[in-house]
Amino acid sequence: MPEVTAAAARHPSVPVDPARGEQVRALDRAHVFHSWSAQAKITPMALAGAEGSYVWDYDGNRYLDLSSQLVNTNIGHQHPRVVAAVQAQAARLCTIAPQHANDVRNEAARLISELAPDGFSKVFFTNGGAEAIENAVRMARLHSGRQKVLTRYRSYHGGTQTAVTLTGDPRRWPNDWWSSGVVHFFGPFLYRSTFYAQTEQEEADRALRHLEETIRFEGPDTIAAVLLETIPGTAGIMVPPAGYLAGVRELCDRYGIVLIFDEVMAGFGRTGAWFAFDHFGVRPDLITFAKGVNSGYVPLGGVVISDAIAATFDDKVYPGGLTYSGHPLACAAAVATITAMREEGIVENAARIGEQVLGPGLRELAERHPVIGEVRGLGVFWALDLVKNRASKEELAPYGGTSEAMTTLLAALRRRGVLPFANFHRLHVVPPCTISEAEAKEGLAAIDEALGEVAGFYEG
Ligand SMILES: Cc1ncc(COP(=O)(O)O)c(C=O)c1O
Repeated sequence: MPEVTAAAARHPSVPVDPARGEQVRALDRAHVFHSWSAQAKITPMALAGAEGSYVWDYDGNRYLDLSSQLVNTNIGHQHPRVVAAVQAQAARLCTIAPQHANDVRNEAARLISELAPDGFSKVFFTNGGAEAIENAVRMARLHSGRQKVLTRYRSYHGGTQTAVTLTGDPRRWPNDWWSSGVVHFFGPFLYRSTFYAQTEQEEADRALRHLEETIRFEGPDTIAAVLLETIPGTAGIMVPPAGYLAGVRELCDRYGIVLIFDEVMAGFGRTGAWFAFDHFGVRPDLITFAKGVNSGYVPLGGVVISDAIAATFDDKVYPGGLTYSGHPLACAAAVATITAMREEGIVENAARIGEQVLGPGLRELAERHPVIGEVRGLGVFWALDLVKNRASKEELAPYGGTSEAMTTLLAALRRRGVLPFANFHRLHVVPPCTISEAEAKEGLAAIDEALGEVAGFYEG
């Protein structure tokens, strides 16, 4: 266990029990098969409890959760209103099959459709984000009568077969044995421009021209959908330049293509708005969501369906379904989460922390640490693009891999009482939307010190 030098503090309800921690780790290694991992090469951290922006291990060490786990605990850990709602629902009605009408499922769907633009009356519930993608794509294909889906390199859409095939990161490579109908293209990303652009405007224009050419050469009449993470998350938090999403909308309208915005990671407050597309005034035809809808207290995802697409299935059977679609415990958690987020100004807090604390704080770190090549993000959704050299922009770790520099950085953060989220050469700063100004500053101070420990890896 690393020695925690800062922010170590006991939580009264989390007993310190190192022996239990050892046992939890041992049983995990004996019986639990982990996602995306070589099983013999991992040493999962055993966590005993959590509250608000913090988690605790069995040794009594407290960690500021700058990961929101997998960028899902938007409302923070153990929010009392969500915990109480799940408990009350469990006492009242734990489960009910999807073919029956249910009050809490109705209310979750009503609240979600109220947050979406006008003309999105219906919600199809799934157990998580990947299934939301599976079903959105199925709806788009059946609605359009077309087969292909265009999606971006530098994206993640989930681990099930269709979703991983649509993904544009290395997790697709070993799974890519049935990719018929999926075509990847490049989105705008000025810092590492594919289009030799010098300005955001050039990047947006050229990325749109590239997309239109891809559509023309693939055959517009064969394309069911364009699927985009509104703001790509795990792939690097690239906020799209002005005009890009509106341009994609125009292309989809011109060629009769369904536009799907994947809001699984960026939605429900993460960017300081309910949906990330709210920042851009562009509406899709289908919206996928999961994670922040109920902060993952009980697994839930889904598709918010525009009325035109929903009408396709008024008289025609929708050929898809799940035993737990609209599970009452998950829906009760969503109702309580959305209600608490509204009443407690949690989305506004995420916007304010981004504008006043994390954005300025991270940019200030970039002035002092040359290893930070670029700071990107908004709300509580930030990425530090870490480089060996600012001129060449060579990444601090290779694409799809890690490096001594990155493992040193992550260990330095843990030693300072921070739970980080990293992907390849990037550090993502993605705390709960409820994070306070003092907690955000505590995180910035730890990142500042930890970056000092990797200064020697900078080669510029
Ligand atoms: C943008 C996006 N889409 C889809 C998914 C898949 O969601 P899940 O892991 O709930 O299946 C993720 C997960 O990280 C995601 O970030």
